[in-house]
Amino acid sequence: MVEVKRVGIVGLGAMGAGIAQLCIEAGVETVGREVSAELGEKARDRIGHFLTRKVEKGQLEQAARDEAVGRLTLTTKLEDFAGCDLVIEAIVEELEPKRELFAALEGICGPEAVLATNTSALSVTEIAAATTTPERVVGMHFFNPAPLMPLVEIVRAELTAAGPFETAYAFGERIGKTPIRCYDTPGFVVNRVLIPLLNDCVRVLDESRVTPEDLDTGMKNGAGWPMGPCALVDLVGIDVHVHASEALYEKTREQRMAPPPRLVAMRNAGLLGRKSGRGFYSYD
Ligand code: 3HC
Repeated sequence: MVEVKRVGIVGLGAMGAGIAQLCIEAGVETVGREVSAELGEKARDRIGHFLTRKVEKGQLEQAARDEAVGRLTLTTKLEDFAGCDLVIEAIVEELEPKRELFAALEGICGPEAVLATNTSALSVTEIAAATTTPERVVGMHFFNPAPLMPLVEIVRAELTAAGPFETAYAFGERIGKTPIRCYDTPGFVVNRVLIPLLNDCVRVLDESRVTPEDLDTGMKNGAGWPMGPCALVDLVGIDVHVHASEALYEKTREQRMAPPPRLVAMRNAGLLGRKSGRGFYSYD
C-alpha cells in the first residue's frame, strides 16, 4: 500500500471538482488539472461555493473551509502530477483520450504512484493496457454528486495488483466514502443495474403517456427513490447517460441497455439536463 500525501485530479468538471472537494476537506494536498486556467478557476469557485454553504449551515468552521480551499493547487500541466501518490482521472468519457492520458501519466508520475480512473462504463482494463504498468491502474467510480453520494466502487482490472487496489480502497475510506470492491465487468455493480432501470423508466414515459412529473412523483412516493428518474437523468446529464447506455449495450448486447430514442433525440437537440439548463425539466 502507498501512503497518499498528495493527490492529483485530472479534469475538474462536475465529477472531478466533487472529488477534489472531498480530498481537500479530508486534509489531502490536491493538484487539480484543467485544460485552461479559466476552467480551473470555475471549478475552484464551484468548490468554494459548496464549502461556503456548509459554513452557512454550521457544518464547517470558516477557518477549516479556508484551509481546505488552500489545499487545492490548480494547474494546466500534467507534469505537475510528478509528486502525486495517487492520480484520479475524471476527463471526457471516451476511451482514446483516457488511454492517451494514462500513457502520459505513466511517464510523469513516480513508479509507486497509483493511477485511477473514474470511468463509469468503459473498461478499466482497456485503459490500463495503454500503459506498461497496468498493475497500478485501478477504477475509482464515484457517483454524482460526488460530495453527497456515499459510494465509491473500487474496480480491479485484469492486471491490477493488490497493493494499488487496497491503496485506492483505503483512500476512498479516508475521504469519507463507503467503498466496495468490484471487478471490471460492464457497468461494474451499480450502473449495471441503474442504467437499464433508468432506460426502462424513460420507456415507460412513452408507453404509459404519463408526464415526467408524475413518473417522478410515482417513483419517489411508491418506490422510495430520493429523487425521480427524470430528475436523476437530468442531474447525471442526458449526454452522459446516453453515452454510458451505448457503452453498456455495445458490451452486453442487452436491449435494455440501449438508450431509448427519446433520450438520444434530447441529447442531439442539446437538452442535456441541469448542465444545459433544460432536460426533462427547466433549470435557472
Ligand atoms: N457538490 C457539492 N455539494 C453539493 C452538490 C454538489 N454537486 N449539490 C448539492 N450540494 C450541497 C448543497 O450545498 C446543498 O445544500 P443547499 O441547497 O442548502 O446549498 C446540500 O448539498 C444538500 O443538497 P440537497 O438539499 O439537494 O440534498 P438532498 O438531501 O436533497 O439530497 C441528493 C440530494 C443526495 C442528490 C439526493 O437527491 C439523492 O441521493 N439523489 C440520487 C442521486 C443519485 O442516484 N446519484 C447517482 C447517479 S448515477 C451516477 O452518478 C453514476 C454515473 O456513472 C452515471
